[in-house]
Amino acid sequence: MKKRFHIFDTTLRDGEQAPGFSMNLDEKVRLAAQLELLGVDILEAGFPISSDGDFQAARQIAKNITKCTVAGLARARKGDIDRAWEALKFAKKPRIHTFIATSDIHMEHKLRKSPREVLREAVEAVKYANSLCPEVEFSAEDATRTDIDFLCEIVEATIDAGARVINIPDTVGYAMPWEFGELIKTLRERVPNIDKAILSVHCHNDLGLAVANSLMAIRNGAQQLECTINGIGERAGNASLEEIVMAVHTRNPEFQQKTNIKTSEIYPTSKMLSEITRMEVQVNKAIVGQNAFSHEAGIHQDGVLKNPLTYEIMTPNSVGLSSNNIVLGKHSGRRALHARLKQLGYDLSRDEMDKAYDAFIAIADKKKVMVDEDLVELISGGGGGGLSSTFIKETMQEYLNRP
Ligand code: KIV
Ligand code: ZN
Repeated sequence: MKKRFHIFDTTLRDGEQAPGFSMNLDEKVRLAAQLELLGVDILEAGFPISSDGDFQAARQIAKNITKCTVAGLARARKGDIDRAWEALKFAKKPRIHTFIATSDIHMEHKLRKSPREVLREAVEAVKYANSLCPEVEFSAEDATRTDIDFLCEIVEATIDAGARVINIPDTVGYAMPWEFGELIKTLRERVPNIDKAILSVHCHNDLGLAVANSLMAIRNGAQQLECTINGIGERAGNASLEEIVMAVHTRNPEFQQKTNIKTSEIYPTSKMLSEITRMEVQVNKAIVGQNAFSHEAGIHQDGVLKNPLTYEIMTPNSVGLSSNNIVLGKHSGRRALHARLKQLGYDLSRDEMDKAYDAFIAIADKKKVMVDEDLVELISGGGGGGLSSTFIKETMQEYLNRP
């Protein structure tokens, strides 16, 4: 049987904390319900000490959500942990996620603490969180820039203190995929009690490598991936949930693992997030961008119309889109135009098709995309002009004069 790794969604915490992505209570509650439907295993509902809004939202989500674990973030401090527990205590499956920075640069310049103090505070925080909550996750912030001996030591100590999940964040998106894979392998080999915890990773996208690093982690023994819808998150964002899931789904023999994600809910979830935050994804975004299943080049359209597998490595249906999109523009071929005209009810003779295609290309050269209304106008023609050269000339003129 295939092993399953856990998807930890942090759209409502790391994602929401990015500029322009803030959500109100109702919006968070609505998105949380959709994430549950999507099938995430753990949903990070917020950072309860950070604001009253975050606290209220985490509390409401903890009350509503029953299928997945609901996590809340807390620094390694008693006050943070108390506030997180106050928000999470009604959850069916609560998890306190506590963290402290472990790299020299963070310990010296941000925390102004010695490694010994950081180790002690991490252990105390995990023990305290464990006295309140049945499941505790510990994150070693900036793990990829942390001295490896110290990282192994703090991971071992926090597992002994009761952490059931150990998270290794690439907080600043600095790691290369091969280094990150090696780091996960090293932790598995060197930390004697590592089997008592679930090993997790949390990758940021500063160098565009968050998904690649997450996949390398899975190949080297990570059991939980932290990610966000549309890859939103601090700075360049977090690893994108949809890219990770579809990579593992599409190239399954490479991983021999599965997730609990209902892939047909990917597109609706992405759209809901864009609609709530009024932030569209870039058109060429993998999996959920407007162009991800669109074809304009004539050769590609011809291939896709004959068999979608020629240019599509996954089906639009598998991510929740009803169909692919054959975009008619100046790069399109006769076959695509013919197919679309047929769908619109026009079965043209060869001669008519020649004229239609010439007119189509002439107009498409000026107008980026030809939509169905343009085609109807082109074929039927205002005043019955149809494909006559006067009509085409006029139509072109009209398009050129459009604001
Ligand atoms: O990027 C990071 O290190 C974090 C931790 C709090 C997990 O978001
Ligand atoms: Zn983060």
